[in-house]
Amino acid sequence: MSQKFSPVSRSGRFASGPAADVAAFSESISFDWRLWRYDLTGSIAHARMLQQVGLLTKTEANAIVRGLEEISAEIEAGKFAWKPELEDVHMNIEAELTRRVPAGAKLHTGRSRNDQVALDVRLWLRDESAALSAELRVLQRALVELGAAHTGVILPGYTHLQRAQPVYFAHHLLAYVEMLDRDHGRLADAARRANVCPLGAGALAGSTLPLDREFVARQLGFVDARGRPLVSQNSMDAVSDRDFAVEFCAAAALIAVHLSRLAEDVILWAGSEFNFIRIADAYTTGSSLMPQKKNPDVAELTRGKSARVIGNLVALLTLLKGLPMTYNRDLQEDKERLFDTADTARACVRLMAAMLAHTSVNAAACAAAARDPLLLATDLADYLVRRGMAFRQAHHVVGAVVGLAEKLGKPLDQLSLEELRGADPAFEADALEVFDLEKAMARRTLPGAPGTREVQRQLARWRKALA
Ligand code: ARG
Repeated sequence: MSQKFSPVSRSGRFASGPAADVAAFSESISFDWRLWRYDLTGSIAHARMLQQVGLLTKTEANAIVRGLEEISAEIEAGKFAWKPELEDVHMNIEAELTRRVPAGAKLHTGRSRNDQVALDVRLWLRDESAALSAELRVLQRALVELGAAHTGVILPGYTHLQRAQPVYFAHHLLAYVEMLDRDHGRLADAARRANVCPLGAGALAGSTLPLDREFVARQLGFVDARGRPLVSQNSMDAVSDRDFAVEFCAAAALIAVHLSRLAEDVILWAGSEFNFIRIADAYTTGSSLMPQKKNPDVAELTRGKSARVIGNLVALLTLLKGLPMTYNRDLQEDKERLFDTADTARACVRLMAAMLAHTSVNAAACAAAARDPLLLATDLADYLVRRGMAFRQAHHVVGAVVGLAEKLGKPLDQLSLEELRGADPAFEADALEVFDLEKAMARRTLPGAPGTREVQRQLARWRKALA
């Protein structure tokens, strides 16, 4: 009896099953099985709602819930046999339920796989987004702690990858903490918009049955800050919308890009030419040919993997752009892009955090680089500005002084007062004091500048915020 109503999408209308190659082409169970927990949660809420509105008896609903819980335990234990011929996770679970519990044939009342899959993915994404957000916090903390452990370390800051002005190492790291904080905010923002329950939208046009959509939304935690249920307001939008998936992938792509930039800095710093940091052996790899090599592969792979996360975003946008309303099977292609994005972004964030926690700083090499007096050429121009000179002129004068030092083969801070005054008489005896690096850093007092006190203040602010 229950076999007759087995929940395959082809029952009734079709004389034959799909051709073998069609089944293989269209199955999604090989990847969407990972939605099982959310599919079960959604089905339990749906069953309770059907009971609530009188479409299931209490006995039927209890039997269905018990059956689903049994299946849950079996999947958890790895004992559930997924069947490719049942296409996807929804069919696999429902078919098995119905085989065990006759009332299972009533579970799909007022529901389509179209609203079901939209629900499952939203539920899955809610957890993934929270997990990624938590990992971002770990990475932020790793950056802050690395900076805080080396508060005195100064580096050249670069523009065009040319030495520009001195910055604290911590200031450089905190730049990434800021970026990651915006990423964290973007994930939260996307999660807020994803927090809408699509169940009850049916295939595309809702249902003639007296479903209680708000009951389901409440059961599944689709509620606003005041606990009021949030349900989708247009059934066609509900089953065809994948904005929430795109938003997650976009936020993840930007995270990946930020990590890729951090990775690039790490790779440069770890190279012999910079030699600013040392990554612990456990977070590097060797060469199969060159015995001396110690390569920053974690950073390189993070930089490389950003390509897939960016690609996944583009794939999703491309997937959606030509689709007529409403559900189209194309949408099944969203899952692997989404899963890969979540897995890859999370792994990169986690590995970068672990690598930074196992990175030491070569203070001597940083100090040697930061000692380059050219880094303070702008401070020398500011010296002239303080004496009333127009900045454009001061820029020109100091440019000439730099040229002179180069011609004489002297470091900029080794020029004599006479040589400086030869360029402009505005220079006085205290001009060379500009090159005291400690004092130069203390002079940077603007909010957001790499000044001694300001960087301490920012470190303290982040430590508190991330505690
Ligand atoms: N596996 C499908 C997907 O991921 C589930 C929805 C199928 N709906 C349908 N009408 N064929 O999109």
